[in-house]
Amino acid sequence: MAGSDALVDAARAARAFARAPYSGFAVGAALECADGSIVSGCNIENATYGLTVCAERVALLKALSEGRDRFVRIAVVADTDRPTPPCGPCRQLLWEYCGDIEVVMANLARETGRHQLATLLPMPFDRSLLGPGR
Ligand code: THU
Repeated sequence: MAGSDALVDAARAARAFARAPYSGFAVGAALECADGSIVSGCNIENATYGLTVCAERVALLKALSEGRDRFVRIAVVADTDRPTPPCGPCRQLLWEYCGDIEVVMANLARETGRHQLATLLPMPFDRSLLGPGR
């Protein structure tokens, strides 16, 4: 398992590739897979604004598309004093594919917070509500 520092470092590095000309808010994320590998992502904005994809979702979709399917934690890095937590849609997608992973938040200098996803997404809607066999 990769240490949380390596994970935060990967998220910091991914932030350098952010495509954030509209918000000016660069975010990096890094997902630690169960096999110890790390898949990173950055936010990618679009002139329509609404098609923006968050760093967390980029990392998750990259990982899923490469065949990774078990995850341990995710790190999120932005240049903020306060923690930058995943937005609501990212929490929902992370819950679907990662379950109750640890979410580590950091800025450019230090860790700013650490929470389980279940704490960030209480009472989730998920497949367990759709009935057996889903
Ligand atoms: N953003 C992320 O990539 N992750 C977060 O956790 C919060 C927000 C991005 C989306 C958008 O490109 C910019 O930050 C401002 O909201």
